[in-house]
Amino acid sequence: MTKEPENNLMEKIVALSKRRGFVYQGSEIYGGLSGTWDYGPLGVALKKNIENLWWKRFVSDREDMYGVDAAILMNQEVWKASGHTTTFSDPLVECMKCKRRFRADQLTDPKTCPDCKGKLGEARQFNMMFKTHSGATEDETAVSYLRPETAGGMFVNFKNVLDSLHPKLPFGLAQIGKAFRNEIAPRDFIFRVRELEQMEIEYFIPEKLWEEQFEYWRKEMLDWMKSIGLSSSKIHELEVAPEDRAHYSKRTIDFEFDFPFGRKELYGLAYRTDFDLTNHSKASGVDLSYFDDETKERFMPHVIEPTFGVGRTMLALLCDAYTEDTLGEEPRIFLKLSPAVAPVKVAVFPLLKNKPQLVEKAKEVFTMLKKEFGAVVFDDNGNIGKRYRRQDEIGTPFCITVDFDTVEKDAGVTVRGRDTGKQERVVISELSAFLKKALS
Ligand code: GAP
Repeated sequence: MTKEPENNLMEKIVALSKRRGFVYQGSEIYGGLSGTWDYGPLGVALKKNIENLWWKRFVSDREDMYGVDAAILMNQEVWKASGHTTTFSDPLVECMKCKRRFRADQLTDPKTCPDCKGKLGEARQFNMMFKTHSGATEDETAVSYLRPETAGGMFVNFKNVLDSLHPKLPFGLAQIGKAFRNEIAPRDFIFRVRELEQMEIEYFIPEKLWEEQFEYWRKEMLDWMKSIGLSSSKIHELEVAPEDRAHYSKRTIDFEFDFPFGRKELYGLAYRTDFDLTNHSKASGVDLSYFDDETKERFMPHVIEPTFGVGRTMLALLCDAYTEDTLGEEPRIFLKLSPAVAPVKVAVFPLLKNKPQLVEKAKEVFTMLKKEFGAVVFDDNGNIGKRYRRQDEIGTPFCITVDFDTVEKDAGVTVRGRDTGKQERVVISELSAFLKKALS
């Protein structure tokens, strides 16, 4: 089994994503829109699996976590108070000759245009928030922003959740949703995009707990990555230097992943102190402090923020899973995805599509499994070898074939595993239990 050389691996992953319906270029028939990508049927399935696993692990399976789903458009005061209107920017340079624009901190030579070799102008700060107007007026009072991080929606709802559910500290708010960043140079497929999705937690604590909670969430994040099947050897922690941290953070760790285009940030963990609640209290005039019933103290909670990009999770999974090998005589591509995230769990085939007794039995098996496992497909197109290859390419862990022995001798079905191609006979009455065990 060989892993693809890194230089053309990305091209192959982009091609597979399009060919098999994971990810398409945004607005493709009009020539695309830079920094946007559309998820196709299999991409949506993979994305939902990631999000559902995340939500189950970090929200529904816990007693100290509360979900919110805040509006994407927020009052401009939110982003003034959080510091985003003044500091959420990247350095922009323009080529004096071809007029192309670049992110200054990503250039190897900050003086020369990488495209036309013309002279680059002085760098200036470019705010990455998407600005719009809410309602029919277009003056300054109607300015609104598409949120650049989901976090803002949790800070402004902190008091709402306190007042309606009365949670005791420490507790967290969690949200999955879109965020928008007018990136100067979107790149590397779905790695750096302008419309992204985040899974974020704001975990509220008394200040004295920040170090132990930071360590707790560091381990939780590593465990999560392991649980979805990312190779530990490709994950690296980077202690972010003070001058590189976001304006609100007193400590940040980036979890980096070895993507084919280099070691890059996958997730982040930040200690946001009481920066957000204090600033929102001051700016809104609404007291966002917390009263501890036991100690009778009132104080501003501090925050540990574990943040996860959905698209980057998906990209890391695809890059990690993409494998080429030779099974039997034929070379094949397969996605070695963990069954927990695989968009299709099981595929069911009749050996021959023109034999009604085989098709009928295969449909019966398919219906039975679909009820139990959900993500099950029926395929009778082409020969068995082709069907295996198609399922391998999308990472389906198991293929099941109904043949003449199944119907004539009630001798079970053939279950074929994706990674080894190994086949075994399983009687139909034991199929559910077999798959449940194998998929868990
Ligand atoms: N609330 C904190 C925050 O937004 P961030 O490091 O700017 O922190 C969090 O972003 C995560 O969102 C990143 O670790 C990454 O997974 C994802 N992310 C950020 N910018 C992105 C972009 N332009 N395209 C895709 N994902 C992005």
